Amino acid sequence: MTAVLEAEDLAAGYGDVIALHGVSLTVAPNSITVLLGSNGAGKSTFLRTIAGLLPTRRGHIVFSGQDITSCRSDQRVDLGIVMVPEGRLIFPQLTVEENLKLGAFSPRARTRQAEGLDQAYVMFPRLKERRSQMGGTLSGGEQQMLALARGLMARPQLLLLDEPTLGLAPVMATMIFETIKQLKASGLTILLAEQDVRRTLEIADQGYVLESGKLAMSGSGAELIADQRIGSAYLGI
Ligand SMILES: Nc1ncnc2c1ncn2[C@@H]1O[C@H](COP(=O)(O)OP(=O)(O)OP(=O)(O)O)[C@@H](O)[C@H]1O
Ligand SMILES: [Mg+2]
Repeated sequence: MTAVLEAEDLAAGYGDVIALHGVSLTVAPNSITVLLGSNGAGKSTFLRTIAGLLPTRRGHIVFSGQDITSCRSDQRVDLGIVMVPEGRLIFPQLTVEENLKLGAFSPRARTRQAEGLDQAYVMFPRLKERRSQMGGTLSGGEQQMLALARGLMARPQLLLLDEPTLGLAPVMATMIFETIKQLKASGLTILLAEQDVRRTLEIADQGYVLESGKLAMSGSGAELIADQRIGSAYLGI
């Protein structure tokens, strides 16, 4: 089966800072693949590079068999690579519904905007209740739902999620993890960067651990949970 994403020897950085030093990984179709690592390990940098928001300094990115290394970020969105960035970045002065509609900006998504809105409201009834409320007045958890729902409005094939549970209360984080599982069940492929190592590995098909911009470990979710090194470095056991 063709991988949805193949990163080959990816290097990227900011000015003189090299934040990724040749990372290779594969995301299988209809999987939840997770990127783990402590603060500054390079998780966001990796996702930004895949989304085309940061230039690739070395290596290749192959999406569904097509080399997209030189594609612009908007072209990648058109192909179905959609990122929900860290920190949500919703528009505070726009209503929930206006925020959602902005997610469907690509021509491919725009023609199916009404259908996308219906689906978003089925998945997140709370957003439906609050459709006319300003984005900035939502709670942190609700803003995260909105960011996720807006990403889905773009009709992704590969959804890149950067720390969607950061700063959320446990109940809300559980709800986000459940949503991610549902999205997989609906056929989506997900690449997820997270700090909540245990819960992330519980839903992961495959996991990769970054340390200082390099790949330190990889394995199935179950293999990584059982790995002593993960226990001592990330789970405090
Ligand atoms: N805009 C930037 N300019 C300069 N350096 C940056 C920038 N963004 C990130 N870096 C550096 O790149 C490295 C990787 O950062 P990155 O944000 O990818 O880490 P992360 O794994 O996502 O961490 P966190 O879990 O804290 O979000 C860090 O050393 C960071 O300081
Ligand atoms: Mg990050």
